[in-house]
Amino acid sequence: MARFPKPPEGSWTEHFGLGTEPVSYADSTSPAFYEREREAIFGRVWLNVGRVESLPRTGSYFTKELVAAQTSIVVVRDRDNTIRAFYNVCRHRGNKLVWNDDPRAETQGSCRQFVCKYHGWRYQLDGSLAHVQQEHEFFDLDKERHGLVPVHCDVWAGFVFVNLADEPRQTLSEFLGPMVTALEGYPFDRMTSRFAYRATIHANWKLFMDAFAEFYHAPVLHMKQSPEKYSSMARSSGFEAPHYQIDDPHRLVSTTGVRLWETDPQSMKPMERLTRSGLFGPWDKADLGELPSGVNPARCNPWGLDSFQIFPNFVILIWSQGWYLTYHYWPTAYDTHVFEGNVYFLPARTARERVAQEMAAVTFKEFALQDSNTLEATQLMLESGYIDRFHLNDQEVLIRHLHRVVAEWVDAADQPAVPA
Ligand code: FES
Ligand SMILES: [Fe+2]
Repeated sequence: MARFPKPPEGSWTEHFGLGTEPVSYADSTSPAFYEREREAIFGRVWLNVGRVESLPRTGSYFTKELVAAQTSIVVVRDRDNTIRAFYNVCRHRGNKLVWNDDPRAETQGSCRQFVCKYHGWRYQLDGSLAHVQQEHEFFDLDKERHGLVPVHCDVWAGFVFVNLADEPRQTLSEFLGPMVTALEGYPFDRMTSRFAYRATIHANWKLFMDAFAEFYHAPVLHMKQSPEKYSSMARSSGFEAPHYQIDDPHRLVSTTGVRLWETDPQSMKPMERLTRSGLFGPWDKADLGELPSGVNPARCNPWGLDSFQIFPNFVILIWSQGWYLTYHYWPTAYDTHVFEGNVYFLPARTARERVAQEMAAVTFKEFALQDSNTLEATQLMLESGYIDRFHLNDQEVLIRHLHRVVAEWVDAADQPAVPA
């Protein structure tokens, strides 16, 4: 029997105590506010920079450009199997240590030692300085004290996080909290069939997060892709998305999952019928075994997906058809960011499974393009400054929360430190 939670106490927004008044978007148009976000948020929060599968063996590494924090880091699997992160800068004269043709581009690979391209200083995988050319020509150089500068690094469920603070205020698992860590046991490690997208978006990073935090737009913006029946059936259950949860500073929305391809295959597009796949993923559900309690926490039935929005800029989307997506929104200026979308499945066992995965991956890209398409137009007009207060409905409750939490982190960083 279908089961959907009802908004508690009249509305989700009132339930979470987020206020019902119109919301300002000045935090998305102000270069000065962006400067504060960089330090207050990106300089001190746990940031997901990738997965352990990208570091399969000793010496595997990847670099990550953290433009908002004005730095680059290198993440590496050490000889003792530890995943470590370092600032990607040579201790001699500050050359970027790991890069290929373009010093601003990310790279990955595998090595026994890191060698600086400038004068050949060499570093072990644990960051220690192993070799200095013509060392006798230096004055008082203590190699022991000139290893690569480490960055706090920890791994949860195969997701590699870094924290640029001198001393993070919380451990990674404290930061992630019970709502997110309840996903432990989901077979992320088995889902190694990956499709990756990356795009530069001319809009503030929070605007794209907002676009994926509500499904109010779906029947309108995605009208041509989404059969009317999806929306009308979802609407009849209440909202397009029936369940919201907040575990500060993170948030979650779960959607309904009407399996139209089972009940009304003729309403699906010819390519979807041919490939047996589409927006919701492959029609033939992957068998992932028993899922952890954190998945579909409201036990929606039928259930479509959970979108776990992990502060500040990382989203894990778990689909009922047995696959998952991640989104990252990396600010590069107050009005631009780099969006990364990754799509993960179990390895395909047959050509048909592979085709179904590719169809889901390109359908996701099509939807994401539609979502991103409005952002530049929104940024432009927000910047015109004529209007600064905007009404958000109850389905947009998570947008209120994101902007509220960003403001709280920025305000907290502005407070003078309390002496211990
Ligand atoms: S700057 Fe790296 S060896 Fe000189
Ligand atoms: Fe969308």
